[in-house]
Amino acid sequence: MRLHNNAANDSAEYAIVVRSDYKGRGLGWQLMQMMIAYGRKRGLRSIEGKVLHENKAMLDMCRQFGFEIAIDPKNASICDVRLAL
Ligand SMILES: CC(C)(COP(=O)(O)OP(=O)(O)OC[C@H]1O[C@@H](n2cnc3c(N)ncnc32)[C@H](O)[C@@H]1OP(=O)(O)O)[C@@H](O)C(=O)NCCC(=O)NCCS
Repeated sequence: MRLHNNAANDSAEYAIVVRSDYKGRGLGWQLMQMMIAYGRKRGLRSIEGKVLHENKAMLDMCRQFGFEIAIDPKNASICDVRLAL
């Protein structure tokens, strides 16, 4: 899991990867929860990410955590996801 803050320190871009043989056990979900809690604690206003359109697992999780999801205007195969904290 990575959360990389921007220069203004009010938003951060995230990335989460779970090892293939550990997928589907709830780890991705827990990492998302930890990341959101950490972002709130750090006083971030939002968490953002870029997710491949075909990445149903991550997009479903984003929906469940209340992220806004939009197609990247520059690349239709990518979704811009954003959670206001
Ligand atoms: C996307 C990724 C991080 C998901 O991680 P994971 O550990 O396999 O996912 P989980 O097991 O936590 O969640 C899978 C499912 O359980 C659900 N779930 C897990 N824990 C839950 C809980 N406590 N409460 C409710 N739902 C839960 C999730 O919503 C999801 O539902 P579904 O697949 O049945 O629709 C993982 O597939 C991955 O590493 N992919 C490659 C890297 C990548 O694409 N990263 C995203 C770009 S940042």
